[in-house]
Amino acid sequence: MPKAKISALGCYVPPQVLTNSDLEKLVQTSNQWILERTGISERHIAGPEMATSDLALNAAKAALAQRGIEASELDAILVCTVTPDMLFPSTACLVQHQLGAKGAWGFDLIAACSGFVFGLTTAAQLVISGSHKKVLVIGADTMSRIIDYTDRTTCILFGDGAGAMLVEASEDDSAGFMDFLNEIDGSGGAYLNMPAGGSRMPASIETVGQRMHYVHQDGQQVFKYAVRKMYEVSRDLLARNGIAPRDLAAMIPHQANRRIIQATADRLGVDPDRVMINIGRYGNTTAGTIPLATQDAIAAGKLKKGDVVLFVAVGAGYTVGANLWRWAY
Ligand code: UT7
Repeated sequence: MPKAKISALGCYVPPQVLTNSDLEKLVQTSNQWILERTGISERHIAGPEMATSDLALNAAKAALAQRGIEASELDAILVCTVTPDMLFPSTACLVQHQLGAKGAWGFDLIAACSGFVFGLTTAAQLVISGSHKKVLVIGADTMSRIIDYTDRTTCILFGDGAGAMLVEASEDDSAGFMDFLNEIDGSGGAYLNMPAGGSRMPASIETVGQRMHYVHQDGQQVFKYAVRKMYEVSRDLLARNGIAPRDLAAMIPHQANRRIIQATADRLGVDPDRVMINIGRYGNTTAGTIPLATQDAIAAGKLKKGDVVLFVAVGAGYTVGANLWRWAY
C-alpha cells in the first residue's frame, strides 16, 4: 500500500490589508478590544476583481512551482471552501480549467473552518488506495463577500486567503499521513451559518433586506465548543497513535481566535513554542488558515522532515477535524 505524503505547499493572500483601525471607522470597536479578545491586528481583503477561484489558482500555482511539476500531472483537485465563485460549476472545475489540469477530476468540499483538514484526509485516502498519485488540496475563502461590515461581532474576525498542499504517493515509510479523527455534529448548525441563498431560503428582496446572506454567529457558543472539541479530538488522536503532546514538533490549529488556540494547547499540554499562531496578520480565512499557518511554521524553522505535525480545526456545522502527519520535506 502506498503512503501519502505532503510534498509541496503554496499560499496566496490578496494584497489589500484591512487593519483594526480601518474597522474602527466602520463599526463601534477598538484596536485594543480586537487584539485582546481575538489576537487579530489585520486581515487581507480581495479586491472586487477577484473571487475564490483566483485566490485558489494562485495558491495552486505556487504549490506546483515548488514541486516543479505540471498541472497535467494532477489526478484530482479538491477545493475546500464556503465561498465558491458560484454554487455551480464548482470552484474545483474553475481552477482545473484555469490551471490546465487536463487529467484531473475534483470537487468542492464544504466543511467551513475544518475544510482543509477534511480535504487532507480525503486526499490521503485517495492516494493510499492506490488509485491516485497526485491530489491537490486547496483551502480558499473570500470571507469578505459574506461578512456584514455593520456587524462588529463578526466583521473583525475574518479575512481572505488561500493555501494548497500537494498530497502524493510515496514509498518512504519515514514520512507521510499517519491518522485522522474527524467528526460532524449537526446540532451546532444554529450557532454559525449563512441562512439564505440555498434551497431553504432562496435569494429574495426580503432575504437581502434582512441581511440573511451574511455570516450569523453566536460567538460564545462557538468559542466554548471549539475549545472543548479541538482539545478532545487532539487528545484522542495523539493517544491512539502513542504520541505524547511533547513529541509534536508543531501543532497547527485553525486560526479563529488566539484565545481558543491557547486554551486548547494549554489543556493538551503542548509547549507554546510549538503551537503555530499567525492569526494576527490574516484573521480567520476559514479553509485557508491551516496552509497559511503551515507556511509560517516552515519559514520559522518549526517543521523538518520526519517531524510529527498535528492539524486541528473546528468549524460551522459543527465540523471537527484532526490529522497527524510526519512532515516529508
Ligand atoms: O472558525 C469558527 C468561527 N468562529 C469562531 O471561532 C468564533 C468564536 N468566538 C469568538 O471568537 C468570540 O466569542 C468573539 C471574538 C466573537 C467575541 O468575543 P467574546 O469575548 O466572546 O465577547 P462577547 O460576545 O462575550 O462580548 C463581550 C462584549 C459585549 O458587550 P456587553 O454585552 O458586555 O456590553 C459585546 O457587545 O463585547 C462586545 N463586543 C465588542 N466590543 C467591541 C462584541 N464585539 C465587539 C467588538 N468591539 N468588535
